[in-house]
Amino acid sequence: MTGTGKTGTGMPRKDGSGAKPVAAPPAAPPATPPVASSVGARPPPERLYGRRRGHPLRARQARLIELALPRFRLTRAQAADPLATFAPFVPRALWLEVGFGAGEHTLAQIAAHPDIALIGCEVFENGLAALLARLVPEGEEASAPPPPNLRLWPEDARTLLALLPEAALDRLFLLFPDPWPKARHAKRRFIHPANLALIARALAPGGELRVASDDPTYQDWMLAVLDPAAQPYFVPADPTAPRGVRARPEDWPPTRYEAKALREGRCPLYWRLRRR
Ligand SMILES: C[S@@+](CC[C@H](N)C(=O)[O-])C[C@H]1O[C@@H](n2cnc3c(N)ncnc32)[C@H](O)[C@@H]1O
Repeated sequence: MTGTGKTGTGMPRKDGSGAKPVAAPPAAPPATPPVASSVGARPPPERLYGRRRGHPLRARQARLIELALPRFRLTRAQAADPLATFAPFVPRALWLEVGFGAGEHTLAQIAAHPDIALIGCEVFENGLAALLARLVPEGEEASAPPPPNLRLWPEDARTLLALLPEAALDRLFLLFPDPWPKARHAKRRFIHPANLALIARALAPGGELRVASDDPTYQDWMLAVLDPAAQPYFVPADPTAPRGVRARPEDWPPTRYEAKALREGRCPLYWRLRRR
């Protein structure tokens, strides 16, 4: 986990003090949202905050990263035509999960939807090793093929979003992103006015953005940043639930981080947003 601490929200204040306000959106969504932000807030830093490594990898984990990951990963060249990477499998749709952690949700989704292709992004090596350990039998690190409908992107998800063709994705999952609750760290949040354009460019019209958070600061931030009056790209998939829902929707497998949040008494919210 990153970004702990409880000082302020980074939210725009009514008196104009504090963090930079989320600017009013243009009247109508542009047909092709710009990759670089023009929605008003300072763009998030290019640099990736958060950890790439935790405790030292055990021998098996190191073998998975060294020997298996190269076969599972989507390369930068393949990102330009991601569906071709899955041939001869022809997926019905392409989904992306940003920050899959240990991969519980990713693995449950590819098992439940064998007709869908999914790209899982994670920068934390221990998380990548945890997912690979569930897919690669012991001793087969150098040979086990990836599932036909899964590829991994072990780099910053923002890089992939910029490389994918426009409207390449039908769904994007962002489950329990690092909250960065301190106001001065607000720029580091993945849901950020500047990142919305990047996400929207890669999502097809009608595509779905699913976000969950247990952090009250992030929950308030979500409401402000994704308010249809503050951005032109997304509307609530369920117009009766713009504030997110308290019960995890049925086709939404649980994650490790969510279980920890519930154990510790926090209340997750779940959002389904539709790309205009
Ligand atoms: C709080 S954890 C949640 C993990 C998982 N989704 C869950 O619910 O258990 C957030 C994860 O996002 C990853 N992450 C943060 N920024 C990322 C980025 N720009 N690209 C890819 N992964 C990222 C972190 O490494 C971390 O594993």
